[in-house]
Amino acid sequence: MSHRPPLREASSVMPTIRYTSADGDVREISATTGDSVMQTAVRNGVAGIVGECGGVLSCATCHVFVDAGDADRLPPVGELEDEMLDGTADDRRPTSRLSCQLVVSDELGDLHVTLPEAQE
Ligand code: FES
Repeated sequence: MSHRPPLREASSVMPTIRYTSADGDVREISATTGDSVMQTAVRNGVAGIVGECGGVLSCATCHVFVDAGDADRLPPVGELEDEMLDGTADDRRPTSRLSCQLVVSDELGDLHVTLPEAQE
């Protein structure tokens, strides 16, 4: 009789993305790993994220302000994302990101983003 290690159950805890609107309304969504923060918002009807281009960095209608405590854990802003962030409807801030570039993962864990007043 062989002794196999017990099978580990996959983590049932999904990362939670908290979206705070410019008005202060909060939506918390259990996100699917591999989806972007933009896709998670659009699929769940979060008002305030448009995602017009579908995530190919050509619209900047997925602009978010990442919570300062989360910003350091994110991958750095890419060159094209950086250029697009200069053309957002609401002024860019130090923690501005395009949410189509933020991919949900277990490693990244929970995130909190605040939405700008305008995307277009
Ligand atoms: S969805 Fe268009 S740039 Fe993010």
